[in-house]
Amino acid sequence: MKLWGGRFEGGPAEALARLSVSVHFDWRLAAYDIAGSKAHAKVLADAGLLTPEELSRMLAALDELAADVESGAFQATPADEDVHTALERGLLEKLGPLGGKLRAGRSRNDQVATDLRLYLRDHARLLALGIADLAGALTEQAGQHVATPAPGMTHVQHAQPVTFGHWLLAHVQPLLRDLDRLRDWDRRTAVSPLGAGALAGSSLPLDPERVAKELGFTSSAANSMDAVSDRDFVAEFLFVTALLGVHLSRLGEEVVLWTSQEFGWVELDDAFATGSSIMPQKKNADIAELARGKAGRLIGGLVAVLTMLKGLPLTYDRDMQEDKEPAFDALDTLELVLPALTGMIATMTVKTEVLAKAAPIGFSLATEVADYLVRKGVAFRDAHEITGRLVAFCAARGLELHEVGDDDLVAISAELDPGVREVLSVDSALAARKTPGSTGPLAVAEQLANVERELAGARQWATPDQ
Ligand code: ARG
Repeated sequence: MKLWGGRFEGGPAEALARLSVSVHFDWRLAAYDIAGSKAHAKVLADAGLLTPEELSRMLAALDELAADVESGAFQATPADEDVHTALERGLLEKLGPLGGKLRAGRSRNDQVATDLRLYLRDHARLLALGIADLAGALTEQAGQHVATPAPGMTHVQHAQPVTFGHWLLAHVQPLLRDLDRLRDWDRRTAVSPLGAGALAGSSLPLDPERVAKELGFTSSAANSMDAVSDRDFVAEFLFVTALLGVHLSRLGEEVVLWTSQEFGWVELDDAFATGSSIMPQKKNADIAELARGKAGRLIGGLVAVLTMLKGLPLTYDRDMQEDKEPAFDALDTLELVLPALTGMIATMTVKTEVLAKAAPIGFSLATEVADYLVRKGVAFRDAHEITGRLVAFCAARGLELHEVGDDDLVAISAELDPGVREVLSVDSALAARKTPGSTGPLAVAEQLANVERELAGARQWATPDQ
């Protein structure tokens, strides 16, 4: 069955049909297509184009069809070009000629744009829950380590001590921004293309606003040509998932480092680690590596859709059929990655002693010395110089900063006195960092409370009915 046979002699070539078919991937839009059809049937009836009796038969048949799709009793076949064709076939099988009335005032162009918006808006909420779960697992671990010292790094070199809770929350903040981006995206995506027809609107007295409300959109499209051309919502969605993929890859990379022999900061639970087929001793962080690796396809999806859209003339072009697979793949990928990462983080053991021991290594308290001098009135430029000399002195003799004798301190600089040793402990360095957003235990506890509140808000957005 075709939706467009009338002006053609003979059927399509096999090669055309095989290139053109999309039903094997757009079938997952079926429930949304049927929801759109029900809304459309109602405005056709309002416009006097279906009698009340026809409307109720139509709605009943669409409900039955939805149930058959759900149960698998009705299935698309490769002979159905796309989901819209398959469902019209299903409706005709149930209703006979009455089924043919539904297409009035509607085209597959506005239909497919509507279906994909509905699908992505629903699944964005499921995605948000998956992100919130991972953020929740990180936050819970952070709660255990609000005061656990760790060696903070820049350039993967020991820089200054931090608390490990602060470090874990530094991975939560990007996820909170991802959640916020999804909500922001959703607001712009809540626009209904139905009523646009193929491109020019309809001469039939339809009511696009009513259709929009019925389908949970905030409004109908302002311009019928834009309504069928616009795929910003797909590109934006893929940007959100690509950036999320980048965030997950950075978390994954750190877990790989943390679980290495060289770091030894974290041990993964056996259920969330893998072994080697030849080396019996191995315990690998494959989840973290796959999270890191999957970023590639998430970024690829965004690039594919932007490239497909670039230079496309208005309005609908068949190129746009290429928008769906990357979006579906991004969702499928994240549906696998997020729960695995969440379980891995929730069950990992943090080796607090290893972290605490590593925190002061590499003269990471040198900044404390410089700040000490600044508090005494020394210009930071000079304080930096003096502290540099102290570090060089220690490095040459294999000493730690606090091990330098009183005379040697004064010899390095008259400004250095034994009082400096009071700032030369990891605990005092951490406790001194109290300003909002810093790494000290008090500031981290405050951050933790804010994160929990934001996560609750995101969860509520994702599950408004609960
Ligand atoms: N399968 C098409 C797509 O995904 C549906 C819209 C087709 N419209 C058309 N005029 N051929 O874009």
